[in-house]
Amino acid sequence: FNVPKAVNEPVKNYAPNSPEKAAVLAAYKKMWNEKIDVPLYIGNEEIRTGNTKNITPPHDHKHIVGTYHLAEKSHIEKAISNALASKTVWANMAWEQRAAIFLKTAELIAGPYRARINAATMIGQSKNIHQAEIDASCELIDFLRFNVEFMTQIYADQPYSDSSVWNRLEYRPLEGFVYAITPFNFTAIAANLPASAAMMGNVVVWKPSDSQVFSAKIIMDIFKEAGLPEGVINVVFGDALMVTETVLASRDFAGLHFTGSTHVFKDLWAKIGANIHNYKTYPRIVGETGGKDFVMVHPSANVKQAVTGIVRGAFEFQGQKCSAASRAYIPQSLWPNIKEQITTDIQSMKMGSPEDFNNFITAVIHEGSFDKLASYIEQAKKDTDAEIIIGGNYDKSVGYFVEPTVILTTNPKYVTMKTELFGPVLTIYIYEDAKWSETLELIDQTSNYALTGAIFSRDRYAIEEATVKLQNAAGNLYINDKCTGAVVGQQPFGGARASGTNDKAGSMQNLLRWVSPRTIKEVF
Ligand code: ALA
Repeated sequence: FNVPKAVNEPVKNYAPNSPEKAAVLAAYKKMWNEKIDVPLYIGNEEIRTGNTKNITPPHDHKHIVGTYHLAEKSHIEKAISNALASKTVWANMAWEQRAAIFLKTAELIAGPYRARINAATMIGQSKNIHQAEIDASCELIDFLRFNVEFMTQIYADQPYSDSSVWNRLEYRPLEGFVYAITPFNFTAIAANLPASAAMMGNVVVWKPSDSQVFSAKIIMDIFKEAGLPEGVINVVFGDALMVTETVLASRDFAGLHFTGSTHVFKDLWAKIGANIHNYKTYPRIVGETGGKDFVMVHPSANVKQAVTGIVRGAFEFQGQKCSAASRAYIPQSLWPNIKEQITTDIQSMKMGSPEDFNNFITAVIHEGSFDKLASYIEQAKKDTDAEIIIGGNYDKSVGYFVEPTVILTTNPKYVTMKTELFGPVLTIYIYEDAKWSETLELIDQTSNYALTGAIFSRDRYAIEEATVKLQNAAGNLYINDKCTGAVVGQQPFGGARASGTNDKAGSMQNLLRWVSPRTIKEVF
């Protein structure tokens, strides 16, 4: 098999006065006033149901940048039947043709659509330009390119044959359709969940988050321009319960590709289980859910390295990453130094609209998220076993702005050491240096989630001990680095326990969930 070798897309830097910066700002300003109208994409139709909702940027929630149309039950049924009608042609298309469509999608994003998809991510999700570039351009391009490479490796993997017997494995798609439910926080994840299933010959009904319709539209337009045949990926918006119940009632439901909250995923799993007698096949269930990701600092750590890891891991992307550092364990001996450096770093972060490229922190995604964060901050102000040592202010008059906040607790089981908040709030617990081993055990015991974690240490024995003791507490473990920012093709991403099925995003293992292979033996 001869496909272009996948390489990670270089990150552009958007320096002042650069043409890249001018292009993104122009796209941002145009889109700000464009009043984009986002339809449902079903088969070859763009459907405007007339039942619309407004799209507002989280950093300026009174400004309407567009509208999107909500589906009724009949539209979901139509999306399913259109997907199934497209199945035979798509599944039997030569894999090279499918691969070419996704490689073309990557090139369209890397080139002509880069400024537009970054601007849509800045407006729709309030990401700053660097975060939008890493997500909507680089990670999305990487998912497409690397998955094409993995796909070819899968097809190349064949069993032993001899001259009189030919054994072959046909990597057929699942029988039926795949349901993709995608989150608000990553344009790359939103595109990858339907795309990775479709790449393997599946047809998809895709429900993006209501907080991410803007970039979903652009992704769909790019897929179409790249030549994706009608009906392969169908996009629906609407009441989540109605959409899900309609999809799961179909006998042809064959797989769920999900990223979102733990409780929604468990609920979906229960619903699929309750319907199991109705399905033609056992549906594949692949989900990446929440995290309560830890940073554990050993007394031997390089303090500057640890501080950078903590601050970037906790506050980049407003902490709205399932991988974000949200609890840190610091040895008493290093605390005064670490505290001083964290404070200095956080105080240097500017907060405001992503239109100003100097702003590091922008708004959190919506009012529900803002209110949840505010309530935990208020609780920490009152509780005797917690105190706010940095930040703690918030304001939703213009946008949903929450200051980067650090809670210090004397209780390693304090509520914000266990609960996923999904925002710029970090909780720190100080342990006695001599209790390093006990603290590792405590981290494992309090890890209901197991997505990411970071250990900072210059002591090889300590690293070894932590790696063993925390072997089930993180699907992605980082040593002397922040616990965020997995790069496709380098650190396959995903976790177990309440964090998901650990079918690493951007890996061959993930693509294998979307095939139902047939073994053929032929005797000559
Ligand atoms: N894959 C993203 C990260 O590693 C969420 O931070």
